[in-house]
Amino acid sequence: MCGIFGCILTEGKAAPVIHAALKRLEYRGYDSAGEATIYDGHLYMKKDVGKIDQIHSHLNLDDLPGKLGVGHTRWATHGAPSKENAHPFVDCKDRIAVVHNGIIENFLELREGLEKSGHIFKSRTDSEVIPHLIEDFTAKGSNLAEAVRQVSQKLKGSFAIAVISVDEPDKIVCARRESPLVIGIQGKSLYCASDVPAFLPLTNKALFLEENEMALLTAKGVKVFSLKTGESKHFEISTITWSPEMAKKSGYRHFMLKEIHEQPLSLRNALRTQELYYDLMAATINSASRVFLVACGTSYHACLAAAYMFSKIAHIDAKSVEASEFIEHYGTILDRNCAVLAVSQSGETADTLTAIRFAKECGASILGITNVMGSTITRLSSVYIGQNSGPEIGVAATKTFTAQLVVLAKLAIKLAEKRGKITPPESKLLKKNLIEIPEIIETILSENEGKLKHLAEKYWNRSSVCFLGRGINVATVLEGRLKLLEVAYIPALAYPAGESKHGSIAIVEKGYPVIFVSPGGNAYSKIIGNIMEMKARGADILALIEKDDKEIKKLTDEYVEIQSNIPEIFTPIAYVVPLQLFAYYMAIERGSDPDKPRNLAKSVTVE
Ligand code: AGP
Repeated sequence: MCGIFGCILTEGKAAPVIHAALKRLEYRGYDSAGEATIYDGHLYMKKDVGKIDQIHSHLNLDDLPGKLGVGHTRWATHGAPSKENAHPFVDCKDRIAVVHNGIIENFLELREGLEKSGHIFKSRTDSEVIPHLIEDFTAKGSNLAEAVRQVSQKLKGSFAIAVISVDEPDKIVCARRESPLVIGIQGKSLYCASDVPAFLPLTNKALFLEENEMALLTAKGVKVFSLKTGESKHFEISTITWSPEMAKKSGYRHFMLKEIHEQPLSLRNALRTQELYYDLMAATINSASRVFLVACGTSYHACLAAAYMFSKIAHIDAKSVEASEFIEHYGTILDRNCAVLAVSQSGETADTLTAIRFAKECGASILGITNVMGSTITRLSSVYIGQNSGPEIGVAATKTFTAQLVVLAKLAIKLAEKRGKITPPESKLLKKNLIEIPEIIETILSENEGKLKHLAEKYWNRSSVCFLGRGINVATVLEGRLKLLEVAYIPALAYPAGESKHGSIAIVEKGYPVIFVSPGGNAYSKIIGNIMEMKARGADILALIEKDDKEIKKLTDEYVEIQSNIPEIFTPIAYVVPLQLFAYYMAIERGSDPDKPRNLAKSVTVE
């Protein structure tokens, strides 16, 4: 999730306007930034690694000349944060500059073709193919807008781009597919940006580009075209009523809620990560005699679910371990035959780093899954995969948890294939089912948010809540509990449902809320028994069930329905979403700020 911006001004310099807009977009990414402008037949550009203030302090971003330009603030996906990998990117002749947000899935093959025909690349990013492709089309006679349209047909993946060219110095061409892009209109001055906050202090008139649309910005105004056919399209201008603070949250009251709603998008991005790294990671795990999945907090819950996935479909015994316990528990048996997969959103959690540093010294292979390219985990790992969630601002992990699960599920499928534990048709079906998950989450969000708000209104003042699940959904209930604990400060229990009768059932009394995560599948009949045990003691039964559930529905006081027949190993990805919403609305009902829970930090860098 990067931030892009472009502007054509009627008067004054574009560079300070771009700089200020990038500052307002910094919440979308902040590992490097850059600007390019056009003036008097030349392209001017400044970019570097670091936060915008740091870059500005040594480069002075404001002194580029010209009334027209583009800018970018980056959150690395392909290629670590560095000056070379910072946007804008230019063609071979330094005449075309492009800023891009999104992921170009087929960039390796495009780059190979371009290099063969003589193009020189300076970065390791996916984005750099775009100016070179545009260069080819303009060389063949297309104008800039047509070249952008042609190039878009060649790109697989997601993009929002803004393009400028010395040869057509009076225009910005922008286009989008699956990444957001909005045009700001202030009289004859025009802006394009990833998000409204970029230009909100300048204008509240906005044109939201639709999927597969492109726009041509010139001093004469805006024109919108279909990216597929080039046909001109009608558009409407909206008036934004959000305050700048609301705009940063896309109108949501809190970042946590915004990030819960971003999950369909963040999961699609997580699904885009590259096959090569899955292959390398699976090969390392497959050849290890012991496999450990190491993490803290929410990321540990992702590991717990992954251990079930690995066992269920790839027949691999992987131990999920809280990083803070790893050395004490397994320190004596670590050697070069071990593979340690560390999962960390931030890539900087001290307990996780200590665990993998120790394992590395013992000769173990270190693998990583993280949301922050360039973080310490990426440097300690021999192979790492970026989950592509974009910055998560709420302290409570939501979209990064489900993205970790998606990456781990893809890895489990790859392992199962490598080990011959699933047939090609089974693997194909699982991949298809996984690709469908973002849409299922869209439905969960649209159908159930009101219900979860209602449940929070009903249960907000309870002194405790218990979450129960079986099999892989033990991970889901642990995560549901952690969310409730950290944002609503309610002491909560979470157990494998079969364990509850060995102790925790003692606290159940009339009206005590017990939340069951109970999709169909292997555990179904057993979980009915667990529900009966709780019901017999007067508990209020709340259950997450499948839409065509027949039995559990009749036993509950409240239920939330989720699409039926999600493959069991993917159920945590969908079933955790209602629990995130429940925790969020419980926090709201109890008057706490879910974005900044007391005593917690986003990244825990002390042991
Ligand atoms: C999750 O909501 C928490 N804020 C916390 O448990 C977090 O998951 C944990 O600190 C691990 O962080 P990491 O993924 O950045 O390593």
